Amino acid sequence: MYNKLIFDETEFTVETVEEEGKTLVYRAFENIPYVTKPADEKIQRLSIFVPELYYEGKSIDGYNLKNAPIFMPNTVGGYMPGPQERPGKDFMGRTNATFFALLHGYVVVSPGVRGREMQNQEGRYIGTAPAVLCDLKAVVRYLRHNAKRIPGDVNKIISNGTSAGGASSSLLGATGNHPDYEEILRSMGAAEERDDIFAASCYCPITNLDHADMAYEWEFYGINDYHGMRIDPPAPGEDKPRMKPIDGLMNEEQQKWSETLAKEFPDYLNSLHLKDENGAPLSLKPDGSGSFREYIASYVIHSAQRELNCNPELRNKTDFSGLSPKAEPEKQVWLTIENETVTGMDWEKYIAFRTRMKQTPAFDNVSLGTPENELFGNEITKYRHFTEFGYMHSKCEPEMADEMQIKMMNPMNYIRDEKAKKALYYRIRHGVIDRDTSLAISAMLTAVLREQGVKVDFAYPWGIPHAGDYDLDELFAWIDSICK
Ligand code: DHB
Repeated sequence: MYNKLIFDETEFTVETVEEEGKTLVYRAFENIPYVTKPADEKIQRLSIFVPELYYEGKSIDGYNLKNAPIFMPNTVGGYMPGPQERPGKDFMGRTNATFFALLHGYVVVSPGVRGREMQNQEGRYIGTAPAVLCDLKAVVRYLRHNAKRIPGDVNKIISNGTSAGGASSSLLGATGNHPDYEEILRSMGAAEERDDIFAASCYCPITNLDHADMAYEWEFYGINDYHGMRIDPPAPGEDKPRMKPIDGLMNEEQQKWSETLAKEFPDYLNSLHLKDENGAPLSLKPDGSGSFREYIASYVIHSAQRELNCNPELRNKTDFSGLSPKAEPEKQVWLTIENETVTGMDWEKYIAFRTRMKQTPAFDNVSLGTPENELFGNEITKYRHFTEFGYMHSKCEPEMADEMQIKMMNPMNYIRDEKAKKALYYRIRHGVIDRDTSLAISAMLTAVLREQGVKVDFAYPWGIPHAGDYDLDELFAWIDSICK
């Protein structure tokens, strides 16, 4: 079986691509199967890209063919399949991180991974949880299996992803070698190797899904109007997806659920017994206030101060209308700035300023149909619930996801488990005006990782909505700082 998983160094092309006035010449090893028993022959493949300079014996900033870090960005969005990508443009027409990473001197591995909606010829769903994570693990195992032949350093794998892809990256970093996944990996024909990674970069991870509804209501309870965006496939002849605004008001039943869920969150949060960097407990009172909320606020304030320091236009300005156009004018003022120092913030006003994006429940919908309901389907059932609340309040014939499936999709379940080898480093970014999930999700992830000795570079960057890869210079500086 393993012969099939041997990397063939002789199968490559040399490509040249130009983006934003920069020319990249790279060697491409593409479309390599990384499991022997794929559920889908087309998607379960990976590509390896290498700066061609390395084959001329040259180096880039101290990196060469042997020691270059392996940057592994996934293209997962909305828990849909994440196909391999080549250096060039992403689906939004932006130059992708793969292009810039190669220019910077990294080896790039682009994994193709399964996601929801995928069906095999018999009509069975083959991309439900935890397929995305198991595919990423199988990719890591393939690289380790070929450690001597693979360009770059397999002990320096840095995964990267945004949103559902950020969640997948956080899972890959948190669950290394854990036996829970072993049987699935074996059945896929993954190499028998370790699957822990060196570092995980996670932009706005939509994770901890089984507690995300309560976290969302803890944050947005009391705000009943919602403002979202639907992304439709490109119109015929176009190449960019279409955006359609969705605005509405939650009904009375939803408003009640919001209250119930909001009240459940402090119990969950307190049950984690988290601490801040100085060892002080992070907790919440029944009304939702408390040191954990202050912890989040301190990162928001830090973000505003950082912006203030480098953006003179913001000095002593407290109206951020440009940042959140949907918020009413009086909701725009929520930071206190005195003598060019951000001295405080009004939590309620900040939340009102961000505005609600999703209706209650935000993830495990009582009528099913969310990306997450589909993620937790199985081979024959398209949508399932994954929280007790969703199940108990279901308007459908409810079916619950398997307990193990839910467990395996939440990094919080593995970070304190010594059987999981954690990445040594994490970089977590969650935009200060992101509303796709609660800011609590990344804060909890950060706190529990730090407790376990993982070095986490964590920030809520100023002015950033639900997005990723917007600060590649900083991302690469972080990678260099941990690799060199
Ligand atoms: C994504 C965004 C969401 O709001 C969500 O619930 C799941 C995934 C995404 O962009 O990947």
